[in-house]
Amino acid sequence: MQKKDKIFKGKTLAILSGGGDTPAINSSIENVCRRAMLLGFRVYGIRKGWKGLLGEGDVVDLTRLPYNGAYGGTALKSSRTNPFPTAKNPEDRVPQIMANLKRYHIDALVTIGGDDTNGAAKRLYEREGIPVIGFPKTIDNDLRTKTMHHYNGQDIEAVLCPGFPSGALYISDFVRHLRSTNESHERIMVVEVMGRDAGWLTGASVFGGAEMALVPEVEMTAERKERFFEEVKKRYSEKKNLIIAVSEGVRWWNDETKELGMVYASSETDEYGHKRFGGVSGVVASEINKRLGVEARAQISGYYPRSGVCSGYDRRFTSALADKVMDLLLREEYGQMPVLRQMVTADYLEEYNISSVDMGSIGNQPLQQIYYNESNFTFTDAYVDFLKHILGDPYLPTFGCEFPKVNPA
Ligand code: F6P
Repeated sequence: MQKKDKIFKGKTLAILSGGGDTPAINSSIENVCRRAMLLGFRVYGIRKGWKGLLGEGDVVDLTRLPYNGAYGGTALKSSRTNPFPTAKNPEDRVPQIMANLKRYHIDALVTIGGDDTNGAAKRLYEREGIPVIGFPKTIDNDLRTKTMHHYNGQDIEAVLCPGFPSGALYISDFVRHLRSTNESHERIMVVEVMGRDAGWLTGASVFGGAEMALVPEVEMTAERKERFFEEVKKRYSEKKNLIIAVSEGVRWWNDETKELGMVYASSETDEYGHKRFGGVSGVVASEINKRLGVEARAQISGYYPRSGVCSGYDRRFTSALADKVMDLLLREEYGQMPVLRQMVTADYLEEYNISSVDMGSIGNQPLQQIYYNESNFTFTDAYVDFLKHILGDPYLPTFGCEFPKVNPA
C-alpha cells in the first residue's frame, strides 16, 4: 500500500508564549507540538513572545526534538511586547511581524497567552489575515472561557485557564504550610496572592486554611474596612489565630489621604500599561496591628504559585485543549481559542468537553458574585465546590490536641 502524505506536510506551524508565565506553558507547547508533528507540520518556536518576530526574528526549530512539558514556565521565554503602537512605544511593529512570518515561511501561528497576547493576535488576524489560534494562559484565571460550573441546580459561568490549577494547588500548599507557625505564635497572618484584577487565585488559599479574603472585585472603602476589622476581631478572639488572604490588586482605603488605592512595588509600566503590584499585605497587617493590638504578619506568596512543575490536572487539561487546536487548524477556524465547556475533575478532561471562543471576546472575567460573600469577606461554598474539581477536599492540619490544664494543688 502506498504511504499517504500527512495533511500538513510542507507547512510550518509556529508557537509563541507571551505575558507572565505559568507552570503549564511548557506542557501546552509540548502538547501542541506533538500533535502538530503527527499531522505533518514542521514546528517552530518563537522566542520571547511577539518580540521574537521583530527585527531579524528569534525562531527555533522544535520539530522532532524532545520537549519537557512537565517542567513549569516556558522554555520559549516570554515578554510583554505589544506589536501595536502604545503610549510607551508609538511605533507600529506589525510590518516587522508580517515580514518575519514571510521570511520564516510560517503558515499558522498558535499564541499562548492571556488577554493582551491573544487580543493582539486577534487584531493581527483581523487586520492582516494571519491564520492564528489562541491558547489560554493566565495564573490569574480571569479570561472569559465560558466554562460552566454546575452547582446546586444552577449553572454558573466560571473560568478555567491552564496554569491556574497548578497555581491554585501551590497557593493552597503555601497557606497550609504557614498554619503551624501561625498557630504557634497566635498571630494573624496576612498572605498576599497574585491576581491583578480578579480574586480567583486568592480563593485557593481557603484550601490551605485562609478563613477570610480580600479581592480586587470588592473595594475596601472606609465603611467596609470598619466591618472588616470587626470580623477579624471576632474570628481571632474565637481561636487565637487567623489567616487572611489578600489579592495583590485589592483597592484599600487610605485613612490619611482619604482615597482608595492600590499598592505598587514599582511605578514602571509594561507595554500594555500595567504597573507591578506588591505590598498591600504589609499595609493590611500593620493596620490590624494598630487597630486591634494583635500581632499580625504579612507574607507575600509572590511568584511561588507561578513557579515549579506542572500539576497533573494541568497536564491533562493542556492535552485536551491541544486536541482542539488541531481540530480548529483542520477546519481553518482561525481567531478562535479552545476552552473547557464544563467544570470537571481531571478524569473528564477530554476533547469532547472542549469548545472554542472568539479570541477577541476573552476580556477580563472577575469572580462571580456567588463565589464571594462581601458581607463577611469569605469565599462561599459555591467557590469551594468549583475548586474541589481541581483540588479535592480542603486539607487543614492542626496540632490536634487539647491538653488538660493543670491547676496547682
Ligand atoms: O498577569 C499575571 C501576573 O502574574 C499577575 O498576577 C501579576 O500581577 C503579574 O503577572 C506579575 O508580572 P511580572 O512577571 O511582570 O512581575
